[in-house]
Amino acid sequence: MPAISASAPGKVILFGEHAVVYGIPAIAVPVTQVQAKAIVIPNPGQPGASVEIHAPEISLDSPIKDLPFEHAISRAVDLTLEALGLSTHPAFILKVSSTIPVAAGLGSGAAVTVAIIRAVSTFLGKTLPDETINDLTFEVEKIHHGTPSGIDNTVVTYARPVYFIKDQSIETFAVKEPFSIVIGDTGIPSPTAVTVGDVRKAWQAHPDKYNLLFEACGDVARRARHVIEEGEIKELGPLMDENQALLDEMGVSCSELDTLITAAREAGALGAKLSGGGRGGNMIALVQPEQAGELAVKLKKAGAANTIITVVGKQ
Ligand code: PMV
Repeated sequence: MPAISASAPGKVILFGEHAVVYGIPAIAVPVTQVQAKAIVIPNPGQPGASVEIHAPEISLDSPIKDLPFEHAISRAVDLTLEALGLSTHPAFILKVSSTIPVAAGLGSGAAVTVAIIRAVSTFLGKTLPDETINDLTFEVEKIHHGTPSGIDNTVVTYARPVYFIKDQSIETFAVKEPFSIVIGDTGIPSPTAVTVGDVRKAWQAHPDKYNLLFEACGDVARRARHVIEEGEIKELGPLMDENQALLDEMGVSCSELDTLITAAREAGALGAKLSGGGRGGNMIALVQPEQAGELAVKLKKAGAANTIITVVGKQ
């Protein structure tokens, strides 16, 4: 049995985070500059069904049987075995690594899970189809996120731009003109489960206000899809700014995100907003392609811990 490796990209949400949890449409795109990778290596010296996990970045080096049931990595492996209908299998070592920052809104948890399911199922002789990988990853996302909408697992599994509505079948869409995004990391980890939980409490306390905010986000996402499909990219910038104002009103921005967003706008970005759960993590800015490098430098000067330049819709 040869070693098998699989990888999955990071992602950013362009429009509609948080509102998407309440059935409102959102748009997300893969970010291939960062990746999670899983390698499965046969371990013939060990008894059948034994699995060793090596994930040095999270200081994990353990037999899977010693991990708690709700550990995201062991859950991903268990769900894969269940989906394959295997009660036993040859012993293997699973190595997991990732260049996607954790708890930063870039889909690190989903990407690690997708890579594991692909690598393990291929190693065991039957690569699971994307639809199943997506469903299983959604199950694991519940450990990370509590009540995930499903947008992260969907965009990471299919590695294509998606127009996502919770509990509806996946909708990809055409990007007429590629466009450049600069991603700026505040360097502040912000677990999505916390911000999602806080928005839920605020929605329960002020349902009318929050329902209006969510609807307004949906309106922005619908207009953004149209603009992307028509290739009217300049019109996307103001839509990002509009979405940021709504997220700010929801209470999920923070001073560090605001600083980077303001710096991006002052440097000539066409629009900028936080991306993902907020209160830390990453922001995104839309730029003319030739300005992307310069904007990345300016974001670093304004305090970004890291920047990534990505082109949406590039073949
Ligand atoms: O994983 P993050 O931080 O990109 O957040 C996902 C987007 C949310 O809308 C905040 C949560 C969800 O499940 O859709």
